[in-house]
Amino acid sequence: MMPGEVGNPHVADGDASGGNDGSHRAYVVTHLPGDGVGPEVTDVARACVDAVAPRHGFGINWRPCDLGGRHYLATGEVLPDPVLAELRQSDAILLGAVGTPDVPPGVLERGLLLRLRFELDLYVNLRPSKLRPGVGGAVGKHAPSDLDFVIVRENTEGLYAGAGGTVHRGSEFETATEESLNTRAGVRRCVQYAARLAASRSGRLTLVHKTNVLTHAGDLWYRVARDVAAEAGLELSYAHVDAACLWMVDDPKRFDVIVTDNLFGDIISDLGAALTGGLGYAPSGNLNPDRTGPSIFEPVHGSAPDIAGKGLANPAGAVLSASLMLAHLGEDAAAAELDDAVSAVLAAGEPVGTGEWEKALLAHLGASWADGGTAS
Ligand code: IPM
Ligand code: MN
Repeated sequence: MMPGEVGNPHVADGDASGGNDGSHRAYVVTHLPGDGVGPEVTDVARACVDAVAPRHGFGINWRPCDLGGRHYLATGEVLPDPVLAELRQSDAILLGAVGTPDVPPGVLERGLLLRLRFELDLYVNLRPSKLRPGVGGAVGKHAPSDLDFVIVRENTEGLYAGAGGTVHRGSEFETATEESLNTRAGVRRCVQYAARLAASRSGRLTLVHKTNVLTHAGDLWYRVARDVAAEAGLELSYAHVDAACLWMVDDPKRFDVIVTDNLFGDIISDLGAALTGGLGYAPSGNLNPDRTGPSIFEPVHGSAPDIAGKGLANPAGAVLSASLMLAHLGEDAAAAELDDAVSAVLAAGEPVGTGEWEKALLAHLGASWADGGTAS
């Protein structure tokens, strides 16, 4: 189980066979490949999960689900209620990426991705940034041991909540507002998750915000974070978001667990990705730590239509997202195998292309290419 999490993962009875302890655990995972490179990279992630599952005594019942830009253009559907009801029945969701150039901005972002985050109460977006040997980060001068932090991004409130509007549209006095919603309960549960995660790592927790300018929301975040840290017996550090960007580049060892609001987390996690090899390597987990619904695991990158179908996509972010998913399901040893496999493959020299990646990963995971491969 992921260190910050509470509760027991739901384990369905099933026919997945044979761990050393004789247990049989089966999980229902919805595979939502999406658009562009999404299917390519999540197929590799699936193959890696299936390669390790039997020796850890569990199996995955993959349920394919077609949503995203192509599906929207073909059917007009973004997220029908019956599909959402189906998704709620899974133990986890593995998402590739959604988006095609011809779908207007906002349709899939608000209608699918954010709606899923809100409906499934995925209030934490977990985004690890870890520099692995063999990867050229944007800076390149840091030792891997100095760049290994996790961003805990609040995922259901802030400027993403959708509050605001437009009046006098089209006139010279057109006015548009976006309001940042910050509830004490919402901030508290997010910081509590981050505090549990920090306690399981170095014990260092940093709040990133902009309390000197956003004095209302910043003050709430600061007081809640200070209280939660004190209750957890942790020391809380604080950094303004602009300074945090500077330090992430210049002196990343200052950070271990960062907790921050939705938009700051969106922005600084792309910086974290750039520092650790690029978006292709960055995993994420949209978590419902209370387990009242399934969590969604997805690489941070988008659908990359320019390289889709060419076998060029880097599946590392998807495989590492699948690793986070296994940890969430309580399969810690299998999760570690996937994470280690990505590091080992990189350390041996980065493969060129999706197929080479898959081959190298499965070779490392001990599955034969002929048995386990999905790329042709
Ligand atoms: C991300 C993406 C999304 C976000 C978009 C696509 C809605 O940028 O997951 O980081 O802003 O959260
Ligand atoms: Mn983003």
